Amino acid sequence: MSNKFREVVKEKVKEIQQEVYIKDEILEKIVGLFLSLRDDRFPSKKPPRGLLFYGPPGTGKTLLMKTLAKKLGLSEPIMIRGPEIISQYYGKSELRLRQIFALAKERAEKENLAIIFIDELDSLAPRRDEIEGELERRLVGQLLSLMDGLEKEVSKGHVIVIGSTNRPEALDPALRRPGRFDLEIEFDPPGPDEKKEILKILLNNYASVRYVNINLDEIAEQTIGFTGADLLQLLNESLLQAALEGRDFITQEDLLDAKNRVKPSALREFHIEKPRDRSSEIENGDIVNRIRQITEDFSENPCFKPILLTQSLLLSDKIASTIAFIVCQRLHCPYILVRATWFRTRWFGEMEKSIRELFGKLKCLQPCVVYIKNFDVIATAQNEHLHGAILELLDNLTEFSDNNTKVLILCSVTYKIDPQIRMYFKEMI
Ligand SMILES: Nc1ncnc2c1ncn2[C@@H]1O[C@H](COP(=O)(O)OP(=O)(O)OP(=O)(O)O)[C@@H](O)[C@H]1O
Ligand SMILES: [Mg+2]
Repeated sequence: MSNKFREVVKEKVKEIQQEVYIKDEILEKIVGLFLSLRDDRFPSKKPPRGLLFYGPPGTGKTLLMKTLAKKLGLSEPIMIRGPEIISQYYGKSELRLRQIFALAKERAEKENLAIIFIDELDSLAPRRDEIEGELERRLVGQLLSLMDGLEKEVSKGHVIVIGSTNRPEALDPALRRPGRFDLEIEFDPPGPDEKKEILKILLNNYASVRYVNINLDEIAEQTIGFTGADLLQLLNESLLQAALEGRDFITQEDLLDAKNRVKPSALREFHIEKPRDRSSEIENGDIVNRIRQITEDFSENPCFKPILLTQSLLLSDKIASTIAFIVCQRLHCPYILVRATWFRTRWFGEMEKSIRELFGKLKCLQPCVVYIKNFDVIATAQNEHLHGAILELLDNLTEFSDNNTKVLILCSVTYKIDPQIRMYFKEMI
């Protein structure tokens, strides 16, 4: 790559990053790819035909698509949304897809590069083994054949398809085979530094926002589990508050206050509690001391820690709440309540998958305290299916602990639990 080209890429990356925060290295890769295709200087014979943006809702996938289209100087972007193709053009959906590809090919011949953006790709191309509808089945097939045909049919230039989804596992696997969407780009929920960058972008790009004395470090630290879209909502809430008070600027207090009203998307399906300090209700002095020690240990050195609460249900609740109260106060972290009964009723049959999902989500929320209530409902050896699944949960936990995980898990049990399961817990109260 020549130096000049590299500079052009860097310049474009900078421009795009004023509107959407994406890690430098990822953005450089995408921008470099598109610019080299447009100049027809792609080094290998086979550029990727499709890019897949995937990641949780609100992490900027759609925004990046739009910004890329605008900043790469392509003529009007060809942008479609999966659900739109299905509903709006019912009966004509395949025809509509063919028309879109035909338009892109025409553009590519003229301008060397055309990009088709398909937002919410999963609705257009779901797994064929899991759907009933004939239409979706046909559409997946149509999309595959259109993508496969691109190479032969475009004599000059390239057509690239960018799909976005927050459910990559729901996509038909054929789409992810080489030669289709072969470059996959993951959009992670942002960490504290990234949240700071996103906040800066949002504050700068909102023409109407005036702000004073904002400490971005504090906001970024206290918004655990927030995605870019949640931060946008945080800003909107703050603006509303300021307007209600007749101010035309927002302050740190507005933002911190709004934080209590915006539930981060990563937490939306969990039950969040405000923990209470119930230590005064616990009469046993030994337990109070243990609680103090656990909270101090975790606050000083947050790491992965599963703890079994073996007391009566009532006492477990008090212990969990007190531990969570102190830890959450010190670390400004969320306290998540998971009812074990929920695993059993709702997730039966799908339990292992859901357990994996649960822990995937917890990773985005750390540091956090998780209280799994009535753990014994699933931690007995009586039900073989459950037993297998719960052991998988615990294996997952152990695996989890290898990484840089900051999750304190409290599991309450009232009855005897399976010894095999008890082995996983190094600490007990
Ligand atoms: N990385 C980011 N940088 C800047 N703003 C962001 C970022 N992520 C999200 N936002 C803000 O949140 C809004 C919503 O994000 P966007 O629609 O792009 O999410 P998405 O990943 O497409 O979500 P979904 O999977 O639900 O479609 C954006 O318009 C932007 O204001
Ligand atoms: Mg989107």
